[in-house]
Amino acid sequence: NRVLVLNGPNLRRLGTREPDVYGADTFDDLVALCRDTGRHLNLHVEVRQTDDEAEMIRWVHEAADERTPVVINPAAFTHYSYALRDALAQRTAPLVEVHISNPAAREEFRHTSVVAGVATGTIAGFGLTSYVLALQAVAELLAEQDA
Ligand code: DQA
Repeated sequence: NRVLVLNGPNLRRLGTREPDVYGADTFDDLVALCRDTGRHLNLHVEVRQTDDEAEMIRWVHEAADERTPVVINPAAFTHYSYALRDALAQRTAPLVEVHISNPAAREEFRHTSVVAGVATGTIAGFGLTSYVLALQAVAELLAEQDA
């Protein structure tokens, strides 16, 4: 089973970007963590990052066409991109929204997610472990489907 882990703007800068909020681990560390987690769960995990909304939307369409489950950290797109929400609404497989920080505990503008309503569910606030939990959720959902 293939899973796409999609990351939005500024997430390539993990490690140097506001480490007090997002931690000291780098994007490469995140890629390794997701791949390792996938190996344990028997999932083939492909991790991508883009700062470009159009590219992100193309990846979401690709996942919908191929019935590929998605773990997505939409980063700032979370809070305002109706275009990304409309793309995610076309999903044909489980889709988990993840955040490293807990947006509900931060500035007011982060309290709204325009994508949460079209996700299977959301995991936020556990640092990079949010991705581990999201991949576990995807594995559970796939196992239920196959049962
Ligand atoms: C984030 C939270 C967003 O509010 C922010 O814009 C990000 C990262 C997180 O993972 O905590 O870029 O999605």
